[in-house]
Amino acid sequence: MSIDLTQRLRDRVAIITGGASGIGFATAKRFAAEGAFVVIADVDPTTGEAAAAEVGGAFRPVDVADEAKVNALFDGVAEEFGRIDIAFNNAGISPADDDSIETTELPAWDRVQDVNLKSVYLCSRAALRHMVPAGRGSIINTASFVALLGSATSQISYTASKGGVLAMSRELGVQFARQGVRVNALCPGPVNTPLLQELFARTRSAHDDVSCTCRWDDSPSRRSSRPRSPSSPPTTPRSSPPARSWSTAASPTPTSRRCERPPPRCDRVKA
Ligand SMILES: NC(=O)c1ccc[n+]([C@@H]2O[C@H](COP(=O)([O-])OP(=O)(O)OC[C@H]3O[C@@H](n4cnc5c(N)ncnc54)[C@H](O)[C@@H]3O)[C@@H](O)[C@H]2O)c1
Repeated sequence: MSIDLTQRLRDRVAIITGGASGIGFATAKRFAAEGAFVVIADVDPTTGEAAAAEVGGAFRPVDVADEAKVNALFDGVAEEFGRIDIAFNNAGISPADDDSIETTELPAWDRVQDVNLKSVYLCSRAALRHMVPAGRGSIINTASFVALLGSATSQISYTASKGGVLAMSRELGVQFARQGVRVNALCPGPVNTPLLQELFARTRSAHDDVSCTCRWDDSPSRRSSRPRSPSSPPTTPRSSPPARSWSTAASPTPTSRRCERPPPRCDRVKA
């Protein structure tokens, strides 16, 4: 038996934080292609409005670190559109002042924890208030490979925040499965988005190419993926594995070419 997967999200309402760029925007396009109504929730109104227009969805401004704004986002979407089926809690930052533990000060630590970890707590809680009574829903939180592997070029608060996202998602998954809500975390490897390009630019100017090379050694394939949304989602027999949402082998882009040429192995000792 074959099943049409092209519209498997028909009539679903999805909120995507950080949906204006990178992984979030690629996911928004894919969700929309599969029939979902997508609400792009982002701190950047210019790119947010444009992204929402491109996927035929709605834009709602939000700072995911702000409790009142997060609650207003989820309650407002539920009221306006009647339901929340998917919460993709994906917004994240990787600022320059989050670096080695030896040089990272508390303000940088706190800001990254607020945007990357506290936000996932706030957004998950706000989503659950609607999903639990409905007896269904899917929460997807973006962690990172650094939550599992650590990173040769340290961003101490970022890595700690992503470890927190992964652990929290596991616990929420166990707790809410019986109430019909699935909770999962993604741990992407390097994906060629503005966030990663900024990190490489910074790493190159602040350190040297060795630091840059070390970052590639964090990736088993030693290359980045790029956010991508296939124009036509596949129709797949039910027995086949599901198509991957966005992560495909990448070809080098000019912005990161220096790092993408086959680098020598990193000879730094990884903590
Ligand atoms: N790019 C990678 O290599 C990589 C790897 C692993 C995990 N991630 C994670 O994936 C997620 C998406 O990253 P990306 O690479 O697509 O980055 P990106 O910079 O392309 O997109 C991040 C989006 O989040 C928004 N945002 C930032 N702070 C916000 C806030 N306080 N409130 C609301 N929105 C805010 C930005 O405006 C932007 O649209 C992040 O959580 C990131 O940590 C990225």
